[in-house]
Amino acid sequence: MSKKSRLAILASGSGSNAEAILNYFRDHSEIEVALLMSNNPQAYVLERARKFDIPSKVFSRAEFNQKEAMMKWLNEEKITHIVLAGFLWLVPDFLIHAYPHKIINIHPALLPKFGGKGMYGIKVHEAVKLAQEKETGITIHVVNEKYDDGEILFQGKCAVEESDSPTEIARKVVLLEHAAYPKVIEKWILRNPPAGNN
Ligand code: GRF
Repeated sequence: MSKKSRLAILASGSGSNAEAILNYFRDHSEIEVALLMSNNPQAYVLERARKFDIPSKVFSRAEFNQKEAMMKWLNEEKITHIVLAGFLWLVPDFLIHAYPHKIINIHPALLPKFGGKGMYGIKVHEAVKLAQEKETGITIHVVNEKYDDGEILFQGKCAVEESDSPTEIARKVVLLEHAAYPKVIEKWILRNPPAGNN
């Protein structure tokens, strides 16, 4: 029988997506969330991890960019796949090479529009509003060495009404995120199992 895939979530903030993922995989037969990692010791996502009894690790920027430190934590927990859920730092090359096609991210807009460095949170939805877009949505993509740039695995759309404020757009988008991200993660992991599982 194949072993479970072991997922690490990297998050910098509130972690509502992390919570949706934690809920979805709570009793999954093939995938478990094994570690929550954050660059932000104040992040509410750490509280959510505690609630689910998931180990967490907070790291500094120096540690994040240091191969030995990061790989030690990931190897200790036998992490096979990584998902970014509201994680704001650029992923270093060594991590992308250590987890080829095994790191994904969610972005709250229809990439390639409204992505890149500095495009996060409400700024994305303000830019969508300013551009008078008729629709927006979410993009789930493989992580490469640039911000918001890797192969797109999934996009989901919602309408933007003229009267929608950026906050209202954010509200619609987050609903799409919570509904789609866990399922896309599941499909992606089952299609890309850890080496040795077949
Ligand atoms: C989400 O909109 C996600 O797309 C983006 O950051 C936000 C994180 O929100 N990358 P939360 O912390 O999961 O609530």
